[in-house]
Amino acid sequence: MVRKLIACLLLAGFALSGCEREAPHPPAVPDPHSHANPEQVRVSHVHMDLDVDFDRQVLDGWARLDLNWVDRRASRLVLDTRDLEIHRVEFKSGEDWLETEFTLAEAEQHLGSALTIELTGQPDTVRVHYTTSPDASGLQWLTPEQTAGGEHPFLFSQGQPTHARSYVPLQDAPQVRITYSAVLRPPQGLFAVMSAENDPHAERDGRFLFNMPEAVPPYLIALAVGDLYFEPISDRVGVYAEPRYLEAAVEEFAVTQRMLEKAEARFGDYDWGRYDLLVLPPSFPYGGMENPRVSFVTPTIIAGDESLVSLISHELVHSWAGNLVNNAAWRDLWLNEGVTVYMEYRNMEDVYDRERADMQSVIGYQGLLAALDSLPPERQILAVDLSGRPADDVFTLIPYQKGRLFITEIEERFGRERTDDFLRRYFERFAFQAITTEHFREFLLENLIKGNEDIMSPERVHEWIYEPGMPEGYPVPRSTAFERVDEMSERWLADEIGISDIRRDDWHALQWVYFLNNLPDELSRARLDALDEAFDLTHSANYEVAAAWLEIAIRNRYEPAMERVREFLLEVGRMKFLRPLYAALVETDRELAEAIYLEARAGYHPLGRDTVERLLDED
Ligand code: BES
Ligand code: ZN
Repeated sequence: MVRKLIACLLLAGFALSGCEREAPHPPAVPDPHSHANPEQVRVSHVHMDLDVDFDRQVLDGWARLDLNWVDRRASRLVLDTRDLEIHRVEFKSGEDWLETEFTLAEAEQHLGSALTIELTGQPDTVRVHYTTSPDASGLQWLTPEQTAGGEHPFLFSQGQPTHARSYVPLQDAPQVRITYSAVLRPPQGLFAVMSAENDPHAERDGRFLFNMPEAVPPYLIALAVGDLYFEPISDRVGVYAEPRYLEAAVEEFAVTQRMLEKAEARFGDYDWGRYDLLVLPPSFPYGGMENPRVSFVTPTIIAGDESLVSLISHELVHSWAGNLVNNAAWRDLWLNEGVTVYMEYRNMEDVYDRERADMQSVIGYQGLLAALDSLPPERQILAVDLSGRPADDVFTLIPYQKGRLFITEIEERFGRERTDDFLRRYFERFAFQAITTEHFREFLLENLIKGNEDIMSPERVHEWIYEPGMPEGYPVPRSTAFERVDEMSERWLADEIGISDIRRDDWHALQWVYFLNNLPDELSRARLDALDEAFDLTHSANYEVAAAWLEIAIRNRYEPAMERVREFLLEVGRMKFLRPLYAALVETDRELAEAIYLEARAGYHPLGRDTVERLLDED
């Protein structure tokens, strides 16, 4: 509340109306991934009224957009769309809706089609009547057979980075923060959830109302419809899931309440009211998505021992880094993901202990080293130049892990107290705003570096942000728990100890993941048998452990695990797992890769299909 008031006072300088509903915004920045013209006119609020039609697999209805004209001479509104059928566009004149002309341009591959609406007299409101495509890149329509319960269909959206435009026509640019509201009309008996205020006890009567009073970037507009039920964890936290997952999820995720308390204590007020989790079907292409008020998560983190719940901590702390203060364009993604990963590890330390955070830190760091090995220099830069490339290209481990090591270095040089204080002030200063890397840099120089150039120089900051590779002397993550694994592993590989000397119960799932990830590329059949017989890795219920093992099995053509590979790929659509498993299959048995994909394809999300098809097309 206080933050919104401050935002309001700052806005007074810009003198726009309806202060309580609008976030202040700096001047428009170039965005190569949007056709919109926010430098002339800005959408401030979207209201959607949509039928959720599972038979045709479309959303059908209209979106009403409230406009703030920035340029007094402007007369056109350009919106982003992708694969939308536009039926009619109207603007409000007095009490009447008048039809107006529009042009829908040819689709550009990574951008979609610009919808240009000519408007005279700078009206306050326009209404676009439209239908989505069954192939909308941001929606996945699941048949009942593709859900856990098997009886009801399921729909979910994934807007980040540039897919919201495939389910609502808008200025799909992260610099344009908007409030939104919606009426969703799913079939009777199904339950709808949005990244907005939800009523967990709403009737399943085919009509759901939503309101999102905080301004958010459009990629955070999210919806899901299915046979969903709600169970509280505390008075602020709860879980939506299909009945089959509900109980296990509530148990596994009970720690979320503590995560929220610890995050607030360290980073400042949580500004979004409730924090709920929505468990999606296993075809969800990501691990998690930080949709405000309701994070969307994959069921593959339900391991039975809380070993994979750091993903929740990650999505939760996006409530600060990413949702409260977000990247103005996709080149600035590291402000969302890098700062979030840093905060995630701090949160895991607060909730569990240092050892747990250190293990994650090393696993993340190993991923970064692999990314640095495979990416060309220009893609190793935090503020990466994405012009001419799809926004999705920004999602490498560079913004995540190089970004977080930048913050870790600040912590090591200035100490935790000053770093935490700096972050709290950063969130206060830019609350509900979209900012660029340069805003961050200036704020850092002004608030931490100035007068302390001997601790960290402006040149060092520049190197972190604008140079490829890693600056010399960067902080190298270490984990004592993994050092114990290294020792065991080395001795086992040198035949100094037998497999039974590795005691399974001693190890955390992350130690298994690390152990498997760091085995030599080639392993003898005898070693693979020994491992599988001792630990039954082929049937591990932990998806991270299973995926790490199955990749090894594929690469070494370990026949006893191949049926499990097939089952795994038929069940799970999370791209983090699809990528390494299909890549290994393509390298060792292309025919099998193709056969499995043919069977699995119908159950994958459009983005998952793209990922696998690209791997299959490679020579
Ligand atoms: N915002 C991302 C999800 C995302 C990534 C959406 C790429 C669109 C494109 C989310 O916060 C995220 O980072 N998820 C990770 C898990 C996290 C623990 C690193 C994921 O899905 O694996
Ligand atoms: Zn993230």
